[in-house]
Amino acid sequence: MICRGPATTEVNEIAMSDFSEPEIRAVYRVMAERRDMRHFRPDPIDEALLERLLAAAHLAPSVGLMQPWRFVRVRHPELRASIHQLVEAERIQTARALGEREEEFMRLKVEGVRDCGELLVAALMPGREAHIFGRRTLPQMDLASVACAIQNLWLAARAEGIGMGWVSLFDPESLRRLLRMPSGSQPVAVLCLGHVPAFYSRPMLEEQNWARRADLTKLIMTDYWSDDGHPPRESP
Ligand SMILES: Cc1cc2nc3c(=O)[nH]c(=O)nc-3n(C[C@H](O)[C@H](O)[C@H](O)COP(=O)(O)O)c2cc1C
Repeated sequence: MICRGPATTEVNEIAMSDFSEPEIRAVYRVMAERRDMRHFRPDPIDEALLERLLAAAHLAPSVGLMQPWRFVRVRHPELRASIHQLVEAERIQTARALGEREEEFMRLKVEGVRDCGELLVAALMPGREAHIFGRRTLPQMDLASVACAIQNLWLAARAEGIGMGWVSLFDPESLRRLLRMPSGSQPVAVLCLGHVPAFYSRPMLEEQNWARRADLTKLIMTDYWSDDGHPPRESP
């Protein structure tokens, strides 16, 4: 962090961080090397390790400290098979909706539900309407909070050498009923966790020429929205 002295424009490079250089580097490295994984080894995750990952998820920020996340561990093989069927049905619907990229999409591997060591469903709790702080105009901030928890889990898993794949190809109402979740709750993600043969070095969708990471400079604007990432020529 750079600290600017109040009475001068001189920039003093005073390190304000509580973290050591290797710790800081580790944070950036885990972000860069986290991957959405779809290839797993079948061996289970150690229980203490899984507890650490879920504890990391629970450290996430949430709107009004609402903590709307719930996690269902799917242990029963038949339930896992039913979830796989739901995902497969939605994969086919998605392919159809894609039109000209249908066949290309069908060739992608988009989940590892049957192969991963641990299957979790991340969900939104019921009764969220009682939480207004930070949600009056943006009720979807509950979903944003669950996404923060999932990202914590993803990063902690990567640091521990465990792969995770986020699967959103499913009909939420069917999954809610399958898991006997109460009305008002909502499944958000099927999370495949487990040991992996190796982490992909790049996003699989990049490796398979489906999409590319955007140029960051085109995504940052100053003061006013502009389509090319640069400020408009005329600003009032
Ligand atoms: C909200 C969300 C939903 C996703 N759903 C799926 C999915 O259903 N199937 C899939 O293969 N990948 C899914 N992904 C993973 C993305 O495809 C992946 O994050 C992206 O291609 C970048 O790759 P990386 O995570 O390895 O950097 C999802 C990711 C997010 C954040």
